[in-house]
Amino acid sequence: MSDLPDNISFGTDTIFNLIGEGNFTSIGVLVDENTRKLCYPKIYERLGEHHLIEIKSGESNKNIDTCNVIWDQMTRAGFDRNSLLINLGGGVIGDMGGFCAATYKRGISFVNMPTTLLSQVDASVGGKLGVDFHGLKNHIGLFKDPEHVAISTEFLDTLPKQEVRSGFAEIIKHHLIRDKSGWENLRKTPWEGLSWKELIPHSVRIKSAVVASDPYESGLRKILNLGHTIGHAIESHLLGGHSPVLHGEAVAAGIICENHIAHQRGMLSQEHLAHIQHYILSLFGKVAVPEREHDAIIHQAYQDKKNKQQRIRAVLLEAPGVPKWDVEITAEEIRDSLAYYASLQM
Ligand SMILES: NC(=O)c1ccc[n+]([C@@H]2O[C@H](COP(=O)([O-])OP(=O)(O)OC[C@H]3O[C@@H](n4cnc5c(N)ncnc54)[C@H](O)[C@@H]3O)[C@@H](O)[C@H]2O)c1
Ligand SMILES: [Zn+2]
Repeated sequence: MSDLPDNISFGTDTIFNLIGEGNFTSIGVLVDENTRKLCYPKIYERLGEHHLIEIKSGESNKNIDTCNVIWDQMTRAGFDRNSLLINLGGGVIGDMGGFCAATYKRGISFVNMPTTLLSQVDASVGGKLGVDFHGLKNHIGLFKDPEHVAISTEFLDTLPKQEVRSGFAEIIKHHLIRDKSGWENLRKTPWEGLSWKELIPHSVRIKSAVVASDPYESGLRKILNLGHTIGHAIESHLLGGHSPVLHGEAVAAGIICENHIAHQRGMLSQEHLAHIQHYILSLFGKVAVPEREHDAIIHQAYQDKKNKQQRIRAVLLEAPGVPKWDVEITAEEIRDSLAYYASLQM
């Protein structure tokens, strides 16, 4: 497996060294109310002079209105182009803080200190930045790499279990697309036996190797979207509803649905289908997507950024470690897969 890119390290020292060199005229730390309470105290003393910018947590706040608040505070604090924004939080903070930094005065430096499992193994690696728009996930955004990403497992101590599990869906995904033998080990290891100190670097290596070979997602990088065509559609549909689903929970459901499509097409064997499904259901249970909502979910799938000419594209597995990308799937296949998912017994 390839090494980590130069801009990713484990532990937070690299960022404090970067700040300590005095390269920046102002330093902003972007937090939400949870990371201010639970993560900020862990780094506060090493920060030196800085401006704290707090926004409200949650996907429903990942939008242009919140960007206005961030740009406003940077402007009021007099940030010039040599300022640095530290994104201390999960994927929402990382995607939105990065977007705000990358567009403020045509772009200032930003670094990520990801504090959720999901942002450590996925969101803070790969340079995708952005916000949701009119209910469409990450509809407005751009590609730009952070100056640095410092991953520290100490932040995970305070993360609610449901959030840990959500991030774990991306770890499962990384194994399924790129590491067949790792997947066999993973599915046989009980939850309590998992080691974040091994799994996080492993996932980051997989993601960064894929991204390095196709930074702008013209081909191979699309494999990172396994489970996301249907998962995103479910997540977008439920966003703002009575029981919104976490990103990883939706992706876990999406993997099952997309595997069903792969199996129906004769691509994925019954054995692999069953193993993956059993593993995911045992950890995640099921997301409630009643039949009356299937049309709306299919409608969302048509909005996916991977589509071309209104045709829905997905990543389908031939086997663990063997993904095919840019596979066109039909609305009927999605409908059938949602019905299949709904019929599964726990
Ligand atoms: N850019 C990418 O490539 C990429 C990839 C995957 C996901 N994402 C995006 O990431 C977002 C999801 O990220 P997320 O799951 O980290 O969600 P999140 O940022 O909303 O964080 C989840 C919750 O955990 C809280 N929290 C964060 N760190 C904590 C800690 N250490 N202790 C206690 N609570 C903590 C947050 O306040 C929030 O309430 C989505 O918007 C998704 O689109 C982006
Ligand atoms: Zn994801």
